[in-house]
Amino acid sequence: MSAGHSPQAFANAAQAKTYRLSDAAKKRIDKELGKYPADQRQSAVMASLAICQDEHGWVSPCVIEEVASYIGMAPIAVQEVATFYNMYDTSPVGRFKLGVCTNLPCQLRDGKKAAEFLKTRLGIDFNETTPDGVFTLKELECLGACGDAPVMLVNNKRMCSFMDAQKLDALLAELRAAAKE
Ligand code: FES
Repeated sequence: MSAGHSPQAFANAAQAKTYRLSDAAKKRIDKELGKYPADQRQSAVMASLAICQDEHGWVSPCVIEEVASYIGMAPIAVQEVATFYNMYDTSPVGRFKLGVCTNLPCQLRDGKKAAEFLKTRLGIDFNETTPDGVFTLKELECLGACGDAPVMLVNNKRMCSFMDAQKLDALLAELRAAAKE
């Protein structure tokens, strides 16, 4: 199964101006909060942001407000976390975010070739989204799997190794099909 935001999450990303924590998200956040002492609720901020991003498609200002309010942090402190780590998308992305590692070890094993291949196939550059909203292309730092170069990450969760042209085309076809479901 592909690691994609749900179609609903993508619709949310494209349209919704507001976001309210769902009961399901609250339940998942509560579980994270349970891992820390009661006076350390802020320790769950990263997990909370990831949960909301999965649900909403991106970390919008409303997501930041909701997380801050629910776990009892200042919104600016939550925003600092969201903007520090590149797995959080603080602007809307396509249904599938394709991150390509461009650090040196990957570059030495066709990482640049993989990135150029994707740019050509999708007709977009890094930090752009295809007009149909299916793909966003991002440049990533080392993913700690240099021996598997070229390495990619789909929606921050699914690691793809040894991405030659054939595997890239297969991945794009799989994700395009998933986007139609
Ligand atoms: S340089 Fe690409 S995974 Fe390490």
